[in-house]
Amino acid sequence: MARLYLFCFISFFLISGVLSATFTMTNNCGHTVWPGILSGAGTSPLDTTGFALQKDETRTISVPSSWSGRLWGRTVCAEDSTGKFTCVTGDCGSGTLECAGAGAAPPATLAEFTLNGANGLDFYDVSLVDGYNLPMLVVPQGGTGGNCSTTGCVVELNGMCPNELKVASSDGNGVACKSACEAFGEAQYCCSGAYGNPNTCKPSSYSEFFKNACPRAYSYAYDDGTSTFTCASADYVITFCPSVPTSKKASQNPQAAGLPLYNPSMIFSGSQEVSGALSINVAYMQLLLPSAITIFMALLLLS
Ligand SMILES: *[C@@H]1O[C@H](CO)[C@@H](O)[C@H](O)[C@H]1NC(C)=O
Repeated sequence: MARLYLFCFISFFLISGVLSATFTMTNNCGHTVWPGILSGAGTSPLDTTGFALQKDETRTISVPSSWSGRLWGRTVCAEDSTGKFTCVTGDCGSGTLECAGAGAAPPATLAEFTLNGANGLDFYDVSLVDGYNLPMLVVPQGGTGGNCSTTGCVVELNGMCPNELKVASSDGNGVACKSACEAFGEAQYCCSGAYGNPNTCKPSSYSEFFKNACPRAYSYAYDDGTSTFTCASADYVITFCPSVPTSKKASQNPQAAGLPLYNPSMIFSGSQEVSGALSINVAYMQLLLPSAITIFMALLLLS
């Protein structure tokens, strides 16, 4: 009987370990960001599809196993006199805070996930294929296997964006940076038509602008080799504006401000690490408490 208890105990923990993950989102931008979330076709939707994240605020959401989808940050959002909610960048067209099944209008930086995909690995990336609006960082926590490392685009590109790609607000400030595909609509940039395969669709000077600034992010459709990461059983910390790029040096030399290899602590300040650790502890407690109750009930039934 003791062995059976042990078996139940261990299998429950193994199962609960793969049942869900958490996304902990932090806004370090110095202004409000409105995350939007789009679940892939055929995966269970999350509890929220859009909300406001005040500056310095952190929010953790739980994500079911095998979830796939994308998330992004909307900026400069407001409700008009009729109550319609719209954003200058990343708008999902729903007219409300929740995106409710609608995706981001480009240009927007996207974090993309497929959890528990091939070989039980999570696949994740940060993509600039639909353009850029905010720096974003994805840090896996507690995962194993694969090339389980930090990815993202930590550089502020709205100011440096080439003029032909730039999206400016009414006051003339850059608020987003289009992809060449969106700006020019040409097959060679969109990897469509005759350019619809990795042999014919090559990087362009425009995709290289993004790649030089953000070497780990997707800069065009077939940029998979350097831009897709894998990890098993991880939780993910997603930070908008992970570093505040103020130094002149950083803006003149985007590569110098690019991602340090395997060293997220260079990007995270102490306080963010603390808040990340706290939300993960909370996430574990949410996971462990129901498990403990279920195990207790299983033991009662078995004895
Ligand atoms: C990470 O691993 C995946 C799967 O093996 C691979 O396709 C991808 O190219 C790797 N990414 C990097 C950045 O090396």
